[in-house]
Amino acid sequence: MTADPQNLPFDYDAELRRYHQRLLTAMDVGPDDNVLDIGCGTGLTTREAARRAVSGSAVGVDISAGMVATARRLSEQDGLRNVHFEQADAQVHPFPAERFSLGISRFGTMFFTDPDAAFTNIARALRPGARLVQLVWQDSRHQEWATVIRHALGDGRTPPVPAVGNAFSLANPADAERLLTAAGFIDIQVTDVREPVYYGSDAEAAFNAIRSLGMTQDLRTDVDPAQTEHAHQRLLDTLAAHHTADGVWFDSRAWVITAQRR
Ligand SMILES: C[S@@+](CC[C@H](N)C(=O)[O-])C[C@H]1O[C@@H](n2cnc3c(N)ncnc32)[C@H](O)[C@@H]1O
Repeated sequence: MTADPQNLPFDYDAELRRYHQRLLTAMDVGPDDNVLDIGCGTGLTTREAARRAVSGSAVGVDISAGMVATARRLSEQDGLRNVHFEQADAQVHPFPAERFSLGISRFGTMFFTDPDAAFTNIARALRPGARLVQLVWQDSRHQEWATVIRHALGDGRTPPVPAVGNAFSLANPADAERLLTAAGFIDIQVTDVREPVYYGSDAEAAFNAIRSLGMTQDLRTDVDPAQTEHAHQRLLDTLAAHHTADGVWFDSRAWVITAQRR
C-alpha cells in the first residue's frame, strides 16, 4: 500500500536546509555544552548539537509525541549516546533549574500561547551566562511561501492571524526584546537572515508537502467545496511557476535572535 501523501508529516529538514548552516554557526556549540533544544521537532538540530558537545549533552523537547518518537528513532540510528528527547510543553515543563549552558531553537519558539510564561520557564532552565539562540520567521509579508499558499488556497482572503501562538509571533524585534528582557535575558541581538525555503522536487511533491501543513488545513475550511479543485489547481500552477532545476523554492526571511541569561 502506498502512503497517502496528505498524511506524511511536513519535512522541515528539507524545507529549512539553507537556514541550517546559519543556525549552526550562531549556535556555536562547545564540547562541554549541555544544550536544550526547544520545539525540537524530529531533532536534527538536537543531534547536531550532541555531535559537537562531545563531553556534554543535548536534550530536545517537543509537545508532539509523534515528533519525539521520530527524533528518538533517528538518534538511535545515528548511534548518539549523549542525546535525549522528551515530550513536553516547554511553557510549563519542570526543567531542572540552571541545568543547561545553551538553549537553541529552529522555528520552535513562536507557537507558545503564553510566551511570557514560556520564556521565563526557559530562562529558569538555563545557567546564568548561558546563551539562547533562536531562529524565528520575520513578518509574513516577507515570506513568499506564506503569501503564495494563502493566496492560492484562500482565494485571496486572509484569515486573521492570532497575536500569539502563530508562526510570526516573534517577527517584531521590539516585542521579542521586551519578552526576553522580562524573562531575564540580556544582550539581545537580532540578525537578519534571508534564504529560500524548499518545498519539493517538483510542483506535485510541493503540493503534497504543503497539504500536510497546519496552515493549509485552516485555510481549506474557509473554501467552498465547489471551489476546492479550482484552488488546488491555482496552487499547482503557482508551484510550477516556482519550479527550478533544483526543485521548488520560495523566498523567505528570518531573524537569528541571540540573548544571554542574566
Ligand atoms: C516549525 S516546527 C520546528 C521543528 C524543529 N525545530 C525543526 O526545525 O525541524 C515547530 C515545533 O514546535 C513544537 N512546539 C509547539 N509548541 C510547543 C510547546 N509549547 N512546547 C514544545 N514544543 C512545541 C511543535 O510540535 C513543532 O514540532
